[in-house]
Amino acid sequence: MSTETEGKKQSLSITDNRTGKSYEVPIADGTIRSTDLRKIRVDADDFGLMTYDPAFMNTAACRSAITYIDGDKGILRYRGYDIAELAEKSTYLEVAYLLLSGELPTQTQLDEFTRSVTLHTFVHENVKELMDGFRYDAHPMGMLIATVGALSTFYPEAKNIFDQPTRHLQIVRLLAKMPTIAAWSYRHSVGLRYIYPDNDLAYAGNFLSMMKRMAELSYKVNPILERALDILFILHADHEQNCSASAMRGVGSSQVDPYSAVAAAAAALYGPLHGGANEAVLRMLHQIGNVANVPAFIKEVKGGSGSRLMGFGHRVYKNYDPRAKVIKKLADEVFEVTGKNPLLDIALELERIALQDEYFVSRKLYPNVDFYSGLIYQAMGFPVDMFPVLFAIPRTVGWLAQWEEMLLDSEQKIARPRQIYTGKDLRSFVPMDKR
Ligand code: CMC
Repeated sequence: MSTETEGKKQSLSITDNRTGKSYEVPIADGTIRSTDLRKIRVDADDFGLMTYDPAFMNTAACRSAITYIDGDKGILRYRGYDIAELAEKSTYLEVAYLLLSGELPTQTQLDEFTRSVTLHTFVHENVKELMDGFRYDAHPMGMLIATVGALSTFYPEAKNIFDQPTRHLQIVRLLAKMPTIAAWSYRHSVGLRYIYPDNDLAYAGNFLSMMKRMAELSYKVNPILERALDILFILHADHEQNCSASAMRGVGSSQVDPYSAVAAAAAALYGPLHGGANEAVLRMLHQIGNVANVPAFIKEVKGGSGSRLMGFGHRVYKNYDPRAKVIKKLADEVFEVTGKNPLLDIALELERIALQDEYFVSRKLYPNVDFYSGLIYQAMGFPVDMFPVLFAIPRTVGWLAQWEEMLLDSEQKIARPRQIYTGKDLRSFVPMDKR
C-alpha cells in the first residue's frame, strides 16, 4: 500500500537481484520501516532482509516530539522553542516542565511544580549512610550512578510505571534528589560533611549551597553564578536520542523502575565520548599547558596518533553547536565574577586554529557543548571529577521525558536489536585433554 503526496507515490521500489523479484515499500516521514524489508527473501526458509547499522548511524528508533536538532544548520529546540531563547528568558525548572509536559507552564503550574520539586529534595537518612560506605576517594560520578540506582530500593512502588500519579511522583523525586546526591558525592570525595538541602533557595542556588556551604548558617548565593549554572542546566536538559537517552529508553523498555533506568543512563553519560568529554577537555587543556604548544598539539591530533581534540566534533552537529555559542558568551559573565580561567587562552587558540584548518573544516568539526562548559565549571570552583555529574543533574529531566514518551508510545516494545552472526558453525565439544 502506498500513499500519494502531490501526485507522487510515497514509496520505494526495490528489485532483489538474487531472485529478480520486485517489492514496494511505503515511505513515511522520509523513512522506511526496516520490518517492511523482511518480506524480501530468497526462499521460504530465509529470515528476510535486515538492515545493518552499527552505532545507529541512520536508524530512527522512535518517534519523538520532545527535542528537535538540525545538525547541519546548528539548530536545537525543546518542544519547538529555540535553545538560545530558552537560555535567555527561562529557568531550568520551567524548561523541565516544558520538556515533560510539552507546554510552557502558567505561573500557577510553575509554582506548583517548583513546590513539589522543592519538597522532595531531602533523601532518606540511609542514603547518607550508603554514600558514606564508598571509599574516601570515590569518583563522584560512580557514587551518583550507584546511589540513584539504589533509590529504587527506597521506593518499591516506582515499579508501577503505568500508573500516571506514581510515575509523576518518581519524576519529581528524581529531579529533586539528583542535586542532593550529586553534591553529597562531591562532599564525600573531599571529606566534607554532607549539607542538607536549603528549601528557601532555588534549584541551582540550593545545589551551590549543598556543594559549598561551610560553617555559615545559610549559604549566600552569588546571583550571577546561580543564573549561569541555571543556564548551563537549561542547555544540558535534553539532546534527543543521544547515547544516554538511548540507554534510558533501552533499559526502560524492559519496564524496570525509573531509578534503575536513570542509573543506566547516567552510566552511559559517564563515558569520555559523551558526558565525560568536558572532563577530558580540561585534562587536555592542562596537558597542552601553554598557548605556544597549541600548534604541536593540533599536529599530533591530525597525525593519526589517536588523540582527539576533545570538545570538538559531534555525531549530529556539522556546524557550531548552538549550546557552545551560548556557553562561550556566558563564560565572559562568569569570569567577571570569578576572574578569568587561565586555560581560556589555550581554548580560544585551539578553536581559532581548528576553525581554519583543513582537517577540521573538511570533517565539519566544530566546538561542541563541552568545549567551554568545563572552563566555566572550573572557574566556579567545581573540581574536574564533578563535570559529568554537573551534566547528569540537568539531563535527568531529558531522560525522564524520553522515558515517559517511550512508555506511552504504543509502537514501542522491549528494545532488542538483531545481529549478523559471524561466529563458528555447530561443532563438537572437545575434551580438556584434547585441546
Ligand atoms: N578530533 C579530531 N578528529 C576528530 C574528532 C576530534 N574531536 N572528532 C571526529 N574526528 C575525525 C575522526 O577521526 C574521523 O576522521 P576520519 O574520517 O579521517 O577517520 C572523522 O572526524 C569523523 O569522526 P567519527 O569518529 O566518525 O565521528 P562520530 O560521529 O562517530 O563521533 C564524536 C562523534 C563526538 C564521538 C567525536 O567527534 C569525538 O570523539 N569528539 C571528541 C569527544 C567529544 O567532544 N565528545 C562530546 C560530544 S558532545 C556532548 C554530548 O552530547 O555527549
